[in-house]
Amino acid sequence: MSREYNVAVLGATGAVGREMLNSLSDRGFPVKSVKALASSRSAGSVLEFDGKELKVEEVGPDSFKGSDIALFSAGSGASSEYAPLAAKSGCVVVDNSSYWRQDPRVPLVIPEVNSNAVKKHKGIIANPNCSTIQMLVALKPIYDAVGIKRVVVSTYQSVSGTGQKGVEELAEQTRLLFNSQEYAPKVYPHRIAFNCLPHIDAFTDNGYTKEEMKMVNETVKIFDDPNILVTATCVRVPVFYGHSESVWMETGRAIKPEAARELLARAPGVLVLDDPAQNVYPLASEAAGREDVLVGRIRADNTLENGLVMWVVADNLKKGAATNAVEIAELLIRDPELLKTDWS
Ligand code: A2P
Repeated sequence: MSREYNVAVLGATGAVGREMLNSLSDRGFPVKSVKALASSRSAGSVLEFDGKELKVEEVGPDSFKGSDIALFSAGSGASSEYAPLAAKSGCVVVDNSSYWRQDPRVPLVIPEVNSNAVKKHKGIIANPNCSTIQMLVALKPIYDAVGIKRVVVSTYQSVSGTGQKGVEELAEQTRLLFNSQEYAPKVYPHRIAFNCLPHIDAFTDNGYTKEEMKMVNETVKIFDDPNILVTATCVRVPVFYGHSESVWMETGRAIKPEAARELLARAPGVLVLDDPAQNVYPLASEAAGREDVLVGRIRADNTLENGLVMWVVADNLKKGAATNAVEIAELLIRDPELLKTDWS
């Protein structure tokens, strides 16, 4: 009989954590047991896994003993505290927070892009930012074929990227506005309903936000290319699920849109939807619930010979987070050596 694994999910009650449970089940991950972990706030509540009830436990220092793999999506504080404890107890952590992403001991992995990096882990592997994942899945085939010197990206990110509280804030504000009632923004600094906020995560000293700098720095680490230039503007939009991105790139050598379209059509994890004459292009409403990255509006830049532009959309909770984490876990179980940890 093939081996099955003890899996823990930290942050199991959250927007991404629930998707992690769904993804383990939907993708048929060989699970022996699943432990749902969260804070004391939701300990004792009940979730569902594979049609069965799953009781949520409060995370503690001993929670990961006996687990083979833990998927974390409980924020940076919980990741900084519990990921080393889990790794030291022999459990490999796939962490969705930003806390470990730039740590040199921690590979930052998108299976379609740099699956080999997983081999260097010592017990913690980082899942990239949702906006970085979908952009790089779409850039990878072009990067490999002709090189990419520079990327200019603008994002249109859904509120589920902020977690369940973001979803609730958009729903509540929309309802109140339709009923001519007062609302008070809680999660976002301004009204998100019927609005666009050019502000995701905190501002940094260089005028960019942390979210924007994640796209810059994570691209360099994942492509292992210190020369690639990225500039990003990240915008929160009143969409519940699915992030959209306008991605402009300057390639190393010229590539025709038709050739890029063909490369993308053959690329793993990508679905090309590109027939503008028939109103066919990627939409957040179509990406929601899917595991692949949708790419369309592929066209030549009209100002630069080696410029190429495209529109990239994905479900931020799935490929942007949970699916990518479970795909990393799938890489781990292909080789028993990869389930060993060496965190000190
Ligand atoms: P809880 O339900 O107990 O608050 P979201 O991203 O949708 O906001 O969800 C965050 C997830 O992370 C929830 O499952 C939440 O659990 C969990 N979480 C947040 N902080 C901690 C913490 N310090 N320890 C454990 N779990 C945490």
